Amino acid sequence: MKHSSRKIEAGEPVSPRALIATARESLARAYAPYSKFPVAAAVVDDEGRVFTGVNVENASYGLTMCAERVAIFTAVSAGAKKLRALALTSKNGSSLMPCGACRQVMAELFDSAAPVYSDTGKERYKTTSLRDLLPKPFGADDL
Ligand code: THU
Repeated sequence: MKHSSRKIEAGEPVSPRALIATARESLARAYAPYSKFPVAAAVVDDEGRVFTGVNVENASYGLTMCAERVAIFTAVSAGAKKLRALALTSKNGSSLMPCGACRQVMAELFDSAAPVYSDTGKERYKTTSLRDLLPKPFGADDL
């Protein structure tokens, strides 16, 4: 049986390419019958565990959930406390970036310097940071 989490050996750094490869493996499980735009994400927590997510669409379009949030919520549900990096892939090798809602959710669990790797096809990817994507998140201090 395939699991959505995989354990990296203690201390083993997760390379961007390995994280992207893991996301790619789950892309076929995306549920995107309406947009026909499958997306997959992989996140790694501070213990080196990797979790994946895919977008899950709905006939009531607004209920669609992005791959990033599925990966993040899967990680938290499995006990992850801090997330270190996120990789993102879609079918056409375009350098997809997380939507605004996902960026805000990321700000809850990732450091602002955390890298976001966006698959651009073949062996290539683009790296940004959460800080670049969302410089001023809403946070606990704003409450
Ligand atoms: N989508 C994601 O899963 N992640 C993103 O970063 C952008 C968009 C999904 C939502 C929807 O199922 C499809 O892509 C088209 O917007």
